[in-house]
Parts: sequence; structure tokens; C-alpha cells
Amino acid sequence: MSNEENQEVNILESEKNLVLDHDYDGIKELDHPLPFWWVMIFGLTISFSVPYYFYYTHADGPSIRAGLNEKMHEIKEKQAAWEAKQGGFNTEKFNAFFKTEKGKKLGAKTYRRKCMACHADQLQGTIGPNLTDAYWIHGKGDIASIYKTIKEGVTAKGMPAWGAVLTEEQMYGVIGHVMSFKNKNIPGKEPQGEKIE
Ligand code: HEC
Repeated sequence: MSNEENQEVNILESEKNLVLDHDYDGIKELDHPLPFWWVMIFGLTISFSVPYYFYYTHADGPSIRAGLNEKMHEIKEKQAAWEAKQGGFNTEKFNAFFKTEKGKKLGAKTYRRKCMACHADQLQGTIGPNLTDAYWIHGKGDIASIYKTIKEGVTAKGMPAWGAVLTEEQMYGVIGHVMSFKNKNIPGKEPQGEKIE
């Protein structure tokens, strides 16, 4: 009896209501409940896992691969839309072609035959503007604008449209040729358009 009284003394006042009915050789057991929010989250995760499991393993929940395919499809669509916006400029084909020996030769040859009369042998310009300086009339001298100008031309200003004249390879080759002279600043026709830093 006196033993039990001693034990009682060791239990904190605030914990008295937590004492369970058990008594193991005078050792008392306290019932510390988990916080309500913790139990709620625990319960929620368990109830969430059941439909989750069935949806993805037995029903038609998409697999990781299907999710990837869907995303890839979205990316391809965006790429196609971008290409359409560039008027069909295919960056991949251009990059793969213009640096090859064939691409360089075809580019130089196409330039000599179709462009040199107006842009001169070093692209320094005569009738057409100097393509080696930092000044551009159409766009910022980036591949997409150069492609657009060559393809659609500026017929009112004397630059023919080449889209229907050149083959795809001639087009990519000649763009490569123009790009290889970019910023070489070969003295020729006076600057036209805006300076692009
Ligand atoms: C009959 C003359 C003529 C021929 C041929 C010609 N161009 Fe042009 N080109 C021009 C003129 C003129 C302009 C300037 C248009 C303007 O003022 O808007 C121009 C502009 C350009 C521009 C844009 C320059 C800028 O500052 O934005 C590019 C790029 C270009 N030509 C490339 C070519 C290529 C490549 C070829 C050959 C496939 C070619 N040109 C053939 C006359 C010509």
C-alpha cells in the first residue's frame, strides 16, 4: 500500500488523468494520445492510398511511360507550332546540313549564282545591303529573320522571294553562307537599318 502511495507521488499533477488501469509491479502506464492533427493526417494518407492503389494498378490510371509519352507529344506539338511560325524553318535539318562540306559548297555556289549580283562577292553589298555589318533592316540578323527575308523577299525594295526558287538544301546552305559572313564587317555598302549589338 505504502509502495503505491510512493508511485502516486512520482506522477505529475498534470498527467494524473492519463494513468491507465494497468499496474505492473507498481509501474503505472500513461496514455499519451497522439495529437489530433497527426492522427487525422495518418488516417487521410491511409484512406488516400486505397483508391490510389486500385486506380493505378487495377483500373486505367496512366503509367509513368504513358505520362512521358503524353508530355513528349505536347513538346512535339509545340515544336511543330514553332516551326510553322518560322515558316517551316527546320532548325535540326539546318544545323545538320550547313556545316557539312556539301552544305558549305552548295551554300557558296547558290550565293554566287543567285545573290552575288546584288550583295557582292564578300556580301559587302551593292544593290542589296551589306550583310556583314551589324546593321539589319529586317529582324535582328538572327537565323529566323534571315530565313524569312530570303524566303519571302522584300519585293517592293528589290529583294526577290526565294522560297519557291531554292530547294531546301540550297536554302539552308545559303543561310549558312550568310551566317558565316556575319559580323565580318567587310567594307562595302553603307550601313542600313538598325544596329544590333
Ligand atoms: C535583285 C537584287 C537582289 C538579289 C538577287 C538578292 N537580294 Fe537580298 N536584298 C536585296 C535588297 C534590295 C535588300 C534590301 C531590302 C529592303 O531594303 O528592305 C535585300 C535584303 C536582304 C537581306 C536582309 C538584310 C537586312 O538588313 O535585313 C538578306 C538576308 C538577303 N537580302 C539575302 C539574300 C540572299 C541569301 C540572296 C540570294 C538567295 C539575295 N539576298 C538575293 C536585293 C537582292
